[in-house]
Amino acid sequence: MREPILVTGGTGTLGRVVVRELLDAGRDVRVLSRRSSPEQSLFERVTGDLRRGTGVDAAVSGVAAIVHCATTLGRADVATARTLVDAARRHGNPHIVYISIVGVDRVPLPYYRAKLEVERMLTVSGLPWTILRTTQFHDLIARIASLQARSPVNLTLGGAAFQPVDVGEVAVRLAELAVGEPAGRVPDMGGPEIRSHRDLTREYLRATGRRRLVLPVRVPGAISAAYRRGGHLAPERAVGRVTFADYLAART
Ligand SMILES: NC(=O)c1ccc[n+]([C@@H]2O[C@H](COP(=O)([O-])OP(=O)(O)OC[C@H]3O[C@@H](n4cnc5c(N)ncnc54)[C@H](OP(=O)(O)O)[C@@H]3O)[C@@H](O)[C@H]2O)c1
Repeated sequence: MREPILVTGGTGTLGRVVVRELLDAGRDVRVLSRRSSPEQSLFERVTGDLRRGTGVDAAVSGVAAIVHCATTLGRADVATARTLVDAARRHGNPHIVYISIVGVDRVPLPYYRAKLEVERMLTVSGLPWTILRTTQFHDLIARIASLQARSPVNLTLGGAAFQPVDVGEVAVRLAELAVGEPAGRVPDMGGPEIRSHRDLTREYLRATGRRRLVLPVRVPGAISAAYRRGGHLAPERAVGRVTFADYLAART
């Protein structure tokens, strides 16, 4: 019997697809989530909270690897990663696979800085580790547009382009990394196309049958300047195949 693989954030956008990929590969999967579920599932579920430190020992105990997809979407990611790493060190030093973002070292967004700190923490943790950085998911671009659905005007980041990647393709790669040997920092993964935020938003609105004015806004400051310079893009690693149009077509 092989030991299970823990997926933190296994209920999230990326994590739930990683869970499916690992199950398809014949692995036993454990998911750490703050919510308990009465439903029967194909994987084991441990209720716990990385912020509070509850359930973490039970979650990491006896696992072969951890795919760390949980995020607080903020600075607290450093403390939650610390809690996870400390627990993993108490429980046999499993391989930890971390999903990071292209440009965490170039775009001075506090969230990105926190992710960079987590990367550094893993490299000196003593745990066997693998880190994959990807560009934004198609879901994120769609979500930014959909959050403005009630507004007559859809604002976009002026002068900025994105290279969105499909979460399914990222999940396949993470699952492959989790069942493999620790690989350190692996090559970045970007989506197949780089398109302006305005174009991507127009395409989203067309696909969802909405008519809106799309208004690019040139936001001052170092963060938007870094986005305009393309610090979050990986043009030389455009390895994803699913385009934003393919993603939208599959959704509708
Ligand atoms: N979105 C993008 O474009 C993108 C691009 C590149 C990399 N990434 C990275 O991919 C990862 C996953 O992103 P996502 O979009 O899939 O996130 P998401 O959909 O927001 O899911 C977040 C997950 O984190 C879990 N979580 C939150 N707080 C927790 C806590 N205190 N304790 C335990 N679990 C907690 C949630 O589980 P419960 O609610 O069930 O507890 C949920 O499953 C993140 O590290 C993100 O930085 C995202």
